[in-house]
Amino acid sequence: MYFELSEEQKMIRQAARDFAQTELKPGVIERDEHQKFPAEQIKKLGELGFLGMMVSPQYGGSGMDAISYVLVMEELSKIDASASVVVSVNNSLVCYGLEKYGSEEQKQKYLIPLAKGEKIGAFCLSEPEAGSDATSQRTTAIDMGDHYLLNGTKNWITNGSSASTYLVMAQTDASKGSHGINALIVEKGIEGFTIGAKENKMGIRGSDTHSLMFNDVKVPKENRIGEDGFGFKFAMSTLEGGRIGIAAQALGIASGALELAVQYAKERTAFGKTLANLQAIQFKLADMATDIEAARLLCLRAAWLKDNGKPYGQASAMAKLFASETAMKTTIEAVQVHGGYGFVKEYHVERLMRDAKITQIYEGTSEIQKFVISREVLK
Ligand code: CAA
Ligand code: FAD
Repeated sequence: MYFELSEEQKMIRQAARDFAQTELKPGVIERDEHQKFPAEQIKKLGELGFLGMMVSPQYGGSGMDAISYVLVMEELSKIDASASVVVSVNNSLVCYGLEKYGSEEQKQKYLIPLAKGEKIGAFCLSEPEAGSDATSQRTTAIDMGDHYLLNGTKNWITNGSSASTYLVMAQTDASKGSHGINALIVEKGIEGFTIGAKENKMGIRGSDTHSLMFNDVKVPKENRIGEDGFGFKFAMSTLEGGRIGIAAQALGIASGALELAVQYAKERTAFGKTLANLQAIQFKLADMATDIEAARLLCLRAAWLKDNGKPYGQASAMAKLFASETAMKTTIEAVQVHGGYGFVKEYHVERLMRDAKITQIYEGTSEIQKFVISREVLK
């Protein structure tokens, strides 16, 4: 066992930390309040190579490992989870899926601009009536010979309007169940594709979440990823890595909240001493720090397994389950440590608490992570 990060990993973490402080922190409260997408910040993250972190340089990426990805996601999420979800979706759902399963032509045409951050991607699995039960896809992709005819609605799509490239799962042959689903690359602007209104959310309000409507959209056959019927496995396999990203996002939200709570506890006085001198507060901080460290180790372990070519589906589900529960618990406690000040926007912790909630829901709810984990446990 070796717990030390390499010098390169430490440098990457420091770069993300500096970026979060200098580029994300200013304006984060206003972006949250006005639901403003962090467009300039995402552009700069792309220029720094953070949108195609794990993609090979051959396809415009930075060729970093999954451990570095966890470090970057933690640092960005301490400050702005609305920006970090863009990073997570682009890296681990879109770029990863294309690099691992896309054809050479698809990589040349779609992956390179996504990995360079010139374009943003979206991953479209959920539907109004198919969330956790993702095999129940109602969106159809009828095989028309040289193209698929795509019809249906996708719900809750992150980067819904800011993306240019959409990976859309759809049912081609319902009689085959999950084996009848295809993953298609759909470009923004194609006839019949419309983007619904932006959702007005509790948290990650800077991230643009939209429903997407497809009405007789003609998707060329060469835009299918993998063999006919591979779409569900594509989605599940891609989500295994996505869950590492969201676990690291939850970790960052929790560790950001702890940092704020520690700072506040050292400054605020009550009954003649600082809060940090009260054992009730000390114990809260101890519990928060312990859960965060456990979450960090689970995230890093899942990333390590991925980097070393070992199965990581169960490990990523465990990391996401534990880190997201930790994010929720920790942010609630961080607000409590701040007292009334925690309830107002200037102190940042109320936003972290609202942002934490989504980590228990997207990329598979906590209940779905337990389903994935228990299935492995019972094997
Ligand atoms: N890798 C490869 N194949 C997999 C797989 C994996 N991780 N998991 C399942 N499969 C395969 C199975 O082996 C099976 O194939 P065979 O029939 O050949 O054996 C097929 O897929 C169907 O699998 P299941 O029988 O396990 O399917 P299920 O109906 O029981 O559902 C589930 C499994 C885990 C509940 C799945 O539906 C699921 O993960 N649901 C949650 C959906 C989700 O996470 N959505 C996230 C949307 S993206 C998002 O949220 C992004 C964001 O917010 C930022
Ligand atoms: P449901 O599946 O209806 O679940 C409702 C409740 O029932 C949950 O508590 C769930 O855990 C529980 N439940 C359901 N089935 C079971 C079971 N078998 N056992 C135990 N409990 C169960 N999706 C995308 O495809 N792409 C995106 O980019 C994306 N971004 C999102 C961004 C936001 C802000 C949000 C809110 C969602 C996003 N999603 C995205 C969708 C997200 O993945 C789904 O919301 C999630 O998978 C849950 O699906 P659902 O909302 O339909 O809830």
